[in-house]
Amino acid sequence: MATPCKWVTVLVMLLAMAFEVRPAFWPTLEVLQSVGSDLETLTAFETGVYKTTTTTVQKTHWAAPPETLLLVSPTTIGVYPIILFVPSALVQNTDYSQLLEHIASHGYIVVAPQTWPLIIPSQANEIEMAASVVNWIPNFLRYVLPEHVQGSKDLLAVSGHGRGGKTAFALALGVSKTKLTVQISALIGLDPIEGVNKLVRTKPYILKYIPNSFDLSIPTMVTGTGLGNHSKIPFGPSCTANGVNYEDYFNECRSGTLFVVADYGHFDLLNDKLSVAGLAASAGCVSGKGAKDLIRRTIGGLVVAYLDSSFLEKHSNYVNIITNPSLAPARLDPIETKTRTLGDGIRYYSEV
Ligand SMILES: *[C@@H]1O[C@H](CO)[C@@H](O)[C@H](O)[C@H]1NC(C)=O
Repeated sequence: MATPCKWVTVLVMLLAMAFEVRPAFWPTLEVLQSVGSDLETLTAFETGVYKTTTTTVQKTHWAAPPETLLLVSPTTIGVYPIILFVPSALVQNTDYSQLLEHIASHGYIVVAPQTWPLIIPSQANEIEMAASVVNWIPNFLRYVLPEHVQGSKDLLAVSGHGRGGKTAFALALGVSKTKLTVQISALIGLDPIEGVNKLVRTKPYILKYIPNSFDLSIPTMVTGTGLGNHSKIPFGPSCTANGVNYEDYFNECRSGTLFVVADYGHFDLLNDKLSVAGLAASAGCVSGKGAKDLIRRTIGGLVVAYLDSSFLEKHSNYVNIITNPSLAPARLDPIETKTRTLGDGIRYYSEV
């Protein structure tokens, strides 16, 4: 059972949602109230019911993806929402396969481009690469999916980790030169970073340092890590420094939800066994002491719960997590939600 204090917070959030300018599929007050809080429905943190397959699609495939793709998909006949996932710089897309398989096992198709084949592209080039993959999806994804598996035409989320999280924000904000031919329906930034620190930011700049300034009306989820801004050496640099990290991104969102995985670091969501690149990248960042499986299942579960709620109107996992965050495998603190109200006022609720 949640404590009375938590219920008050939840009630306030539900009331706030009733007055919200809602994007399509955003959970309504009536729906959320009807869901109740049946703890047996908190399935998002466990492996889902779908068997999955993980393949690499080379640029030489006749469907000609603009970049090499890691494709993680359910194998069961059906139509599933699609998630573009842009990896962090320096890391291989395959270093995320355990996290992405968790998400796909709940009925999502994940398309993860390798955005730096040999050399690291500039952030601006990476955004164009990701945009061309988005435009490729509606016409060609079907040729690389398992038989009888289809991507939903209308449900595309863009997501990314670290620098890839910045790229996802850039796509959703329409910053790419490549014009997107597909509508983006949700945005997920996992520990997004704008640059090394406030003085060393990659271009184009996304953060404006003006609260609530992002022109976004799609459901938006941001995650952060509590140890991401810690340094391995005293007074040394950190991997996600204050001033360019998830806090700054969420601060500029007008609405959305922020979850911080308190006891883990920036690269702890990667696979247990890493590529040479993945090992090198994560060696520079502070890690949590707990098993990586716990943060992977937490982040994977949050992505599933958030998209189930905003895409599929399946709200039970999301509501249960907000009301009982202690049920997450890794500690979530803080959780903040922001809702846009009908007036021009921004309502801001935090602390679950
Ligand atoms: C990390 O960020 C948190 C939240 O903003 C802050 O309280 C803390 O002082 C930061 N720690 C470091 C080492 O910068």
